[in-house]
Amino acid sequence: MNLADLNKVAQAMVAPGKGILAADESSGTIKKRFDAIKVESTEDSRRDYREMMFRSKDAMTKYISGVILYDETIWQKAKDGTPLVKIIEQAGAIPGIKVDEGTQALPGCPGELVTVGLDKLAERLKKYYDQGARFAKWRAVIDINGNGIPSMTAINVNAHALARYAALCQAAQIVPIVEPEVLMDGDHDIDRCYDVTTRVLNKTFQELRVQRVALEGMILKPNMAISGKKCAKQASVEEVAEKTVRMLKSCVPAAVPGIAFLSGGQSDEEATAHLDAMNRIGNLPWKLTFSYGRALQAAPQKAWSGKADNVPAGQQAFTHRAQMNSLASKGEWKADLEKKKAA
Ligand code: 13P
Repeated sequence: MNLADLNKVAQAMVAPGKGILAADESSGTIKKRFDAIKVESTEDSRRDYREMMFRSKDAMTKYISGVILYDETIWQKAKDGTPLVKIIEQAGAIPGIKVDEGTQALPGCPGELVTVGLDKLAERLKKYYDQGARFAKWRAVIDINGNGIPSMTAINVNAHALARYAALCQAAQIVPIVEPEVLMDGDHDIDRCYDVTTRVLNKTFQELRVQRVALEGMILKPNMAISGKKCAKQASVEEVAEKTVRMLKSCVPAAVPGIAFLSGGQSDEEATAHLDAMNRIGNLPWKLTFSYGRALQAAPQKAWSGKADNVPAGQQAFTHRAQMNSLASKGEWKADLEKKKAA
């Protein structure tokens, strides 16, 4: 492992004004997204859609530091035969790869999940590195609703797997994005999310230390401290920003170069406003930016709707969201920039 080089990649992933595009939806998830815009999910339609984003020159060169790909995409070629990975690299962005293999029911813990995919991971990482991936992602899912959920068992096994994955990545000279996602589904309030996320982050960093993961060569991808979607009392933007920053300061060592949030089901504008408000607080030990899936792609998906004629509109929608989030990563976003676009 060359830590200086890993650190260089990690720093580039959170470079000022830039963030990560999470385009790593599994075949099942992208089908759900395409169903919503009435597009059939085929190898070609998935390729066309992702090619549209990766060829959005302004967005990719100015606002996007890296792209998380799904296994299918990292091997795919654009319509003209250029590998999609090449298109990303030519824009100056870094290709990354989702390496977890989804979740399975956790035995003995009804309703809880453990993320799988560690078997043969070392071999797979080698192939991904040769194909151009310089960072990877592994998502653990922690549900917060229900009796006795989350259990210590679910938190422990998921943190252990995250650290095993991260150590294997660094040994393969790949920067791990460590993603322990506490879901925002349910009616819990922001303080419950804060408490559970604190427990999850503390356990995750404990495991990372035990398994000798170099914090300078990783990126954390957490959820924000936020009210459950069905909670009657929705916390304000300021409260989300203040509590999320306080929570992260108490759990995340300053050696971590950057924190790139997931959007987790927030609306596009909420995800941007929250990130912006956090960066306005300032004086943070790490970079705070975005690694959004839905909050970057919902608008371009709708604008594109599977039609070649709509590619420019899709690219424009993607570029707009990427630019808004770029501004938020610097604490320079304003709500009226959104209204101007809508007008
Ligand atoms: P969302 O921003 O849609 O939550 O996706 C980010 C991601 O990569 C989830 O694993």
